[in-house]
Amino acid sequence: TDYAITVDPSATGPKIDRTMYGVFFEDINRAADGGLYAELVQNRSFEYSADDNTAYTPLTAWTVSGAARVVDDSGRLGDRNRDYLSLGAGSSVTNTGYNTGVAVRDGQKYDFSVWARADAGTTLTVTLQDAGGTLATARRITVGTHGWARYRAAFTATRTSTTGRLTVASRAAAALDMVSLFPRDTYRHEPNGLRKDLAEKVAALHPGFVRFPGGCLVNTGSMQDYSEASGWQRKRAYQWKDTVGPVEERATNANFWGYNQSYGLGYYEYFRFAEDIGAMPLPVVPALVTGCGQNRAVDDDALLARHIQDTLDLIEFANGPATSKWGKVRARMGHPRPFHLTHIEVGNEENLPTEFFARFTRFRAAIQAAYPSMQVISNSGPDDSGQTFDTAWKLNRDAGVGLVDEHYYKSPRWFLQNNHRYDSYDRSGPKVFLGEYASQGNAFRNGLAEAAYMTGLERNADVVRLASYAPLFANADAVQWSPDMVWFDNHASWGSANYEVQKLFMTNVGDRVVPSTATTTPDVSGPLTGAVGLSTWDTAAAYDDVRVTAADGSTLLSDDFSGDAARWTHTGTGSWSVRDGRYVQSDDSAENTMVQAGDPRWHDYDLHVKATKTSGK
Ligand code: AHR
Repeated sequence: TDYAITVDPSATGPKIDRTMYGVFFEDINRAADGGLYAELVQNRSFEYSADDNTAYTPLTAWTVSGAARVVDDSGRLGDRNRDYLSLGAGSSVTNTGYNTGVAVRDGQKYDFSVWARADAGTTLTVTLQDAGGTLATARRITVGTHGWARYRAAFTATRTSTTGRLTVASRAAAALDMVSLFPRDTYRHEPNGLRKDLAEKVAALHPGFVRFPGGCLVNTGSMQDYSEASGWQRKRAYQWKDTVGPVEERATNANFWGYNQSYGLGYYEYFRFAEDIGAMPLPVVPALVTGCGQNRAVDDDALLARHIQDTLDLIEFANGPATSKWGKVRARMGHPRPFHLTHIEVGNEENLPTEFFARFTRFRAAIQAAYPSMQVISNSGPDDSGQTFDTAWKLNRDAGVGLVDEHYYKSPRWFLQNNHRYDSYDRSGPKVFLGEYASQGNAFRNGLAEAAYMTGLERNADVVRLASYAPLFANADAVQWSPDMVWFDNHASWGSANYEVQKLFMTNVGDRVVPSTATTTPDVSGPLTGAVGLSTWDTAAAYDDVRVTAADGSTLLSDDFSGDAARWTHTGTGSWSVRDGRYVQSDDSAENTMVQAGDPRWHDYDLHVKATKTSGK
């Protein structure tokens, strides 16, 4: 079929803001530690805990030769950095880095640092090697007897490797903390900086804004702070004050997505990055209603008042003069000038709209009383339609809120079918911040469906003011959520088809919509089929490498069972377990159906399920 598009250059449509298309960074899929944050040492401060992930211990990612144990006692480096390593005389510890190891490139410089304390003094020997031998000349560090101090050494890699190991050996007994190795060549050579290839991929988008730090990361977990009074509460919601100041004084925390977050990449680094790439910073703070399956309104007025004050302090941290309390913290970190924060989001994907709105209203009143021109962004629910969504929109509309965040993850077909979604939005109501969206897949047709949809966003640029694809990053070896825009491992990164679409739109933002009409649009109706599941009947069978692919070949789910089976639910008569990296049915009457835990959004696909059977009848 031929389609004709008619454009009337003399007509004028809505103005398009330069900031319309942005990115949403969340520490999901290990996007921060082992990702955008350039630190090469994993679990550098020995704070990993079973609260972060049941498989963790304080020595996760470390191997010990000789005597070493992790201690939390009054000899600690700081109140909020509680664990440290007590290393015996003549002993050593080796870090395994991320993915396959510590990745280094021939000729590149690397900066090592460690906080150390040795009552009788000691000499540390620091080496970088892989199975093939040394990767840089070893360094010796003399540790004095005057208590905790930071020691540094520089390495130049003599070979390229992706399987490096960093070893610290001590002649005499010593305490170690914050064992760190950074590439000198971080993005813009900034200290405590970002991994260059990943930061450059974001910068190449020329995003109008950076929404951070989450997502579910923000509105889940305890709302208490990390203090003695709250019992050194772990599993806290992301709270900005945990993430600023000297890195050795920052608390680490359990990450909602099942690992530890060091907060080495914190609010200062996010603001700095947004500024570096010319994007508007757009932070999200928790509204004291937990979501993402935790669904609970926190009824504690004092806590709410503290979070509201924290939010005011955040604005002072971003914009206040270097003489103000929080502006001074920013200045000490290296940025006396303000970061020019103009938008702040309260809450994320709120599925208790009434409870959320009661709290949002208090945040908004306090923020606008102190900072009248601050745009305070509100939320709709996790779905793009239904009771919760309608209630949230009504509350927002009635209260004259300026911007409301919507999220949806749908099939490519849905994106094609809903191109006109915003044509009928009320022009006098709140504007839309499409804070998270993606079609389910990283194949070309996903990118194409998103591009088609973005023409609908742009046509409605008077209503849709901001839009960001999500999630931004995924470490290919640690995926909680797929698809993602940019993928990486410990030494390489690659953009998806979806990334190219975002880049196309972000680097070609128009000034104004020129109205156009088309003779017809392609027929995108049709049956929606498929289900995600694997039914198995064979006795004593074992499976490995289960893969679910969409009709276009894109992978929707893959599991080689190298981790646990928590992602699956099982029904049936047989017993099953995950052993030696395989799914095993161990019972004669076994008849199981395993289903990837609740993501009904996948139902729109034609699915192909393939599993490699490694034993059994
Ligand atoms: O983008 C991934 C997740 O999707 C976000 O954390 C959450 O807001 C949404 O459910």
